[in-house]
Amino acid sequence: MLPKIVVTGGCGYIGSHTIIELIESGRYDVISVDSCVRSTPETMDRVENITGVRVKNYRLDICDKEAFFKVFEENPDIVGIIHFAAYKAVGESVEQPLMYYRNNLGALANVLEACQRFSVPNLLFSSSCSVYGDVEHLPVSEATPMGQAMCPYAHTKQIGEGMIQSMAIPNPSTHSLILRYFNPVGAHISGMNGELSPDKPNNLIPIIMRVASGKQPQMTVFGTDYETRDGSCIRDYLHVSDIADAHVKAMDYLVEGRNQEVCEVFNLGSGNGVSVLEMLDATEKVIGRKLNYVLGERRPGDIPAIYGDSRRANELLGWHCKFNVEDMIASAWKWENYQDNNNI
Ligand code: UD1
Repeated sequence: MLPKIVVTGGCGYIGSHTIIELIESGRYDVISVDSCVRSTPETMDRVENITGVRVKNYRLDICDKEAFFKVFEENPDIVGIIHFAAYKAVGESVEQPLMYYRNNLGALANVLEACQRFSVPNLLFSSSCSVYGDVEHLPVSEATPMGQAMCPYAHTKQIGEGMIQSMAIPNPSTHSLILRYFNPVGAHISGMNGELSPDKPNNLIPIIMRVASGKQPQMTVFGTDYETRDGSCIRDYLHVSDIADAHVKAMDYLVEGRNQEVCEVFNLGSGNGVSVLEMLDATEKVIGRKLNYVLGERRPGDIPAIYGDSRRANELLGWHCKFNVEDMIASAWKWENYQDNNNI
């Protein structure tokens, strides 16, 4: 019997890619808990197409404690939780902050209570580089203090991290890692699983893909007068399967008892800053034609540049990114075409 891991948000973007990597490692058995309010149960068909394994999804809301706890009653052999399930749209969090606090923090409270009640020894928490706010010194390391949260979504990640740290005192038998992601992009290298974008995406790569596939006539580069090498914003993009692989290695680290503290923090980034214009240029090379974009005004709330120092994860988890910017774009493009050809 392999150790059993619960992935919350397993039908979502990073959750489903992590399930694929957990299965392909051959070291873990996986179940998923996802209400599918922001994802679809068909994701598990795609996971099965890629891995040959059918993963059970418990379709329930983690904020419903009674329903969530039944998963642990039914599966007394759970050794770890990877908690992804959360809302993540920055703009929406500004308009509906209470929905964000209630959902993201209510769910996390139930996850932490489940860890204590059912003696789950290992927990990974999906956090974000947005906890750093607008940083002065780059690259940002785990030692960089948290800054002012730029939106309620980022604030839920800051509070969530605090909740986990606080639980380390009354419940030191659950060991946890907080993983702060930079900008996960791309799709499974097969092109058969990826992010299901909303009709009006806000993030750069989904928008580039809409323009490349003709679903959107044009896009705008938000700001070309920043103090960066080409005037556009710089971010630390990394391939979603690299992020997923980091979770497998992080779980190994906890299961093997290599952690020094009850709760530790890791940045997950590629360590490379890439500008918006460089991303567009790389996309044109990958798809072999020009994209229709215009140079425009800054987007309110954007920071000029952020990229991470992920050496701690490299050294302690033995994790290194395998995919480069071209792989990120080529896989996203494959997934875009796969969706069009399969009515997804
Ligand atoms: C956003 C979130 C961040 C979240 C991350 C997840 C904001 C302010 N922040 O980060 O909290 O963790 O997604 O990946 O939304 N851009 C354009 N034109 C476009 C769209 C984007 O030029 O049409 C630029 C943006 O100005 C930015 C860069 O592309 O400089 C990346 O944008 P995006 O993909 O939205 O990510 P972040 O803003 O870094």
